[in-house]
Amino acid sequence: MQTRASRWVLPALGVCTSGCSGIQSALDPAGEEAHQVARLFWVMAGAGGLIWVGVVSLMVYASHKRGQAVGERGAGRLILWCGAAMPSLLLFFLLGYALWLMPGLRPFARAADTPALSIAVTGEQFWWRVAYHPEAGGGPVFSANEIVLPVGERVEFLLNSTDVIHSFWIPSLGGKMDMIPGRQTRLSLLATKPGTYRAACAEYCGTSHALMAFAAIAMEPGDFRQWLAARSTPSPGAGSAGRDLFLRHGCGACHRVDGTEADGEVGPDLSHVGSRATLAAGVLPNDEEALRNFIAHPEVIKPGSKMPGFSMLPEQDIAQIAAWLKGLE
Ligand code: CUA
Repeated sequence: MQTRASRWVLPALGVCTSGCSGIQSALDPAGEEAHQVARLFWVMAGAGGLIWVGVVSLMVYASHKRGQAVGERGAGRLILWCGAAMPSLLLFFLLGYALWLMPGLRPFARAADTPALSIAVTGEQFWWRVAYHPEAGGGPVFSANEIVLPVGERVEFLLNSTDVIHSFWIPSLGGKMDMIPGRQTRLSLLATKPGTYRAACAEYCGTSHALMAFAAIAMEPGDFRQWLAARSTPSPGAGSAGRDLFLRHGCGACHRVDGTEADGEVGPDLSHVGSRATLAAGVLPNDEEALRNFIAHPEVIKPGSKMPGFSMLPEQDIAQIAAWLKGLE
């Protein structure tokens, strides 16, 4: 029979621990740095829990104890040992442990582990500009709102912002790092498990801060090189009607599409947009309907974004542009 306590305790535990796994959890690590963060959390939580149990037990014991009160000397000794010495010692060890872990959470790659790849990421209101700089030569490859990286190879992120402070955070892979206008910050990460993880902006940056996510995809190194090579050449796309409308309606003033005259730099790069996991920085599924909706009403989907709405265009034009964009794989 289910006891009264278990009826409450089990669901409560479920709610409390549901954040411990999944694609956006620092406690379900898939990277070297995230493992350190998770370890630090569990050690601190465990030690905190033990101290809490100890203090509560002493309190219960003291409140039930009968007999003589403790004398002045005894009270003084109690305060000295339990109130000063023990907490200092415990905090000293916990601090020591945290400091000992710190070299593993370094923002700068050590000289010994030269990054295989650097990825420049710029925070924008409210999306992510991404440029891959392969160390093995070749020009940068541009993308947006999605970061692909190889498993088992150290990647260095070069972080910037063009407007306000954003914060770059892939919880499954490591800690966060602020993106500050006018200053480059760096973060070095090493993914250990292939998968698609959800990442987010972790600093309030304006109206659509909560609508500023991206997918971080960790691939086997061979797959990654293949992926990068495919991204270095323009997508053939499907047909030219949508492309012509895209250019005629001036979309190229803000968006770049590899292999066309569109070379705008205000908005996200749309080369290969059809193959991305999501649209509008983690907000919409990547399909034609979502593309049509975003072209017509970006102000509804992402309040505060710079893109004006194009609902004045004929529906058929919007549909053709959306179909062409979806075909850029
Ligand atoms: Cu960008 Cu919050």
